[in-house]
Amino acid sequence: MKIQKLALLSFTFLMLFACREKNNLEEVIQIPEPEAQETQSVYGNPADVKAEKGKFKMRGLSYAYNALEPYIDGKTMELHYSRHHLSYCNNLNKALAGTDLEKWSLEDILKKSDPNNLAIRNNAGGYYNHNLYWEVMGPKAGGQPKDSLAAAINRDFGNYDTFKAQFVDAATKHFGSGWAWLVVDKTGKLVVGSTQNQDNPLMPDMPVSGTPILAIDVWEHAYYLKYQNKRGEYISAFFNVVNWNVVEKKYLDAMKRVVK
Ligand SMILES: [Fe+2]
Repeated sequence: MKIQKLALLSFTFLMLFACREKNNLEEVIQIPEPEAQETQSVYGNPADVKAEKGKFKMRGLSYAYNALEPYIDGKTMELHYSRHHLSYCNNLNKALAGTDLEKWSLEDILKKSDPNNLAIRNNAGGYYNHNLYWEVMGPKAGGQPKDSLAAAINRDFGNYDTFKAQFVDAATKHFGSGWAWLVVDKTGKLVVGSTQNQDNPLMPDMPVSGTPILAIDVWEHAYYLKYQNKRGEYISAFFNVVNWNVVEKKYLDAMKRVVK
């Protein structure tokens, strides 16, 4: 009987030990949580993109490269920001290095520098235009403008649909590379138009003049990976990512500068 009790006690102890070892084993082998795997992005971080030395910096994006999907794909955004925009920024800094224009503001460079200096004209325009483009887009955006901007659009175009049709028309029919714009002109009126290459409505003698508050890049690098030659589809998709709150703020700032 004593031997049986001893055997039972030994068996119980062995089972407890085995269970404890098993629990330890389960604690050691950790299976990665699916959520952690899903959040890993194949894209870089816009904050890691830095300009070479010079006055003008890369300002970053307020959203991830793939945050505007499905309307603008992450790969296009990454290439556009980290290659094309970075190049304009670096080349602008190089063109300004050692000249008096290094002390000028970006707006003054666009408004007053020699338009025949193409290195400065193209790169200052490229730098400014892209900064505005990134800023007026965002995730969970789209819809229609509200408040004072909606009122100004109704005043100057009749209604939102007429404004949109004019903007789409300017962007779609623009020949070759360039930009379409919504600007506040010198009288405070909203106007739509387009410019060639990296030209900009702040520059003198442009087809549309004033302070830009909304811009769409119609260079092929802005849409070709996803839309190929279907520029119209990219332009329609763009309206799903327009951050009208930012555009309205830009409208109000521009109106403060209109000489009454
Ligand atoms: Fe671009």
